[in-house]
Amino acid sequence: MRVLFLGDIFGRPGREVIRDYLSGLVAREGIDLVLANGENASGGKGILPRDAKLLFGYGVDALSGGNHSFHHRESGPFYDEDVRTIRPANYPDPCPGRGWTVIEGPSGRKVGFGNLMGRVFIPFSLDCPFKAADRMLAEMQAAGCWTTVIDIHAEATAEKKAIAVYLDGRAGAVVGTHTHIQTSDCQILPKGTAYMTDVGMTGPHDSVIGMDFKAVLKSFMLGRRHSFTAATRMASMEGAVIDFGGDGKALYVRPVNCPNIYAGRMEELWEEELRKEELRKEELRREEFRQEELRNTEGGAAGGRESGGGEAEAVEAEGRDAGDGRDGGSGMSIGPGEGGDSLGDSPEGGGNRELED
Ligand SMILES: [Fe+2]
Ligand SMILES: [Fe+2]
Repeated sequence: MRVLFLGDIFGRPGREVIRDYLSGLVAREGIDLVLANGENASGGKGILPRDAKLLFGYGVDALSGGNHSFHHRESGPFYDEDVRTIRPANYPDPCPGRGWTVIEGPSGRKVGFGNLMGRVFIPFSLDCPFKAADRMLAEMQAAGCWTTVIDIHAEATAEKKAIAVYLDGRAGAVVGTHTHIQTSDCQILPKGTAYMTDVGMTGPHDSVIGMDFKAVLKSFMLGRRHSFTAATRMASMEGAVIDFGGDGKALYVRPVNCPNIYAGRMEELWEEELRKEELRKEELRREEFRQEELRNTEGGAAGGRESGGGEAEAVEAEGRDAGDGRDGGSGMSIGPGEGGDSLGDSPEGGGNRELED
């Protein structure tokens, strides 16, 4: 059985990469099951039910989460309802949803898909991921799972590797998410568990881990908080392909990296078209005022000329203002237009923006 596990799907670019390219990759690679981390799928933080459903429609079989799992209020009830969307198993009780699920693969083979979150450099109160993994694997075994894929969502490489080593021979694969940067350390551990520290990000890579780099740079360089905006360009699809043998143990694991395949370039062209259109309109406006000024001049009234000149100047100034607005909008168009992926600190604001995403 061949399983594709995709790294954190980030915002609209990530979703659209999946929409446009997943089916081709699945066909080309002979993928049997598609699993993915979806914790950034809606505007870069969290996942809305609407977007989870879209991703299922594009061919994703199940989605895991992480530290952003509960960014949106709607997520909790949705996790309770939808067994294909899981959140880390070591969130303390009581917690909506589930930490693992079962997906049926070819020939009715059951694949357990579990989610854990690390505690190193993660400012959350979480239960022990090692003990949560023990409980989860026992439950998966009782549910008749033939093999298991565990998404370890964590910051620290050492913690991810330690969990993988702890689960070697008991889990089919332990694959990491959260850093959004793909690592080159695929391996089969001695007792048959596939491991990769981080499978990367399915989202915009002309960014700092998904966010527009301008606000991130300001934040780092000036030491003040800035609202981050999700980037929109050069999206890639990243993940790992894992092959399992008849005994459910991993045979092979390799990275998937389809760089810069998103229509970010299309979007760039579209923006260019918009800019050209605005320039054309501005040129027309200027021409109209030139004509009007000429008519006034021909009327012979010196006052008219002055008035016309003043008016033209005023309009020109207005045009400049409008231009500034557009410039702002262009930076933001990527913000409001694109759903305003701006990721302020207010969850409510975040939710609204992401609804437009
Ligand atoms: Fe993430
Ligand atoms: Fe994360």
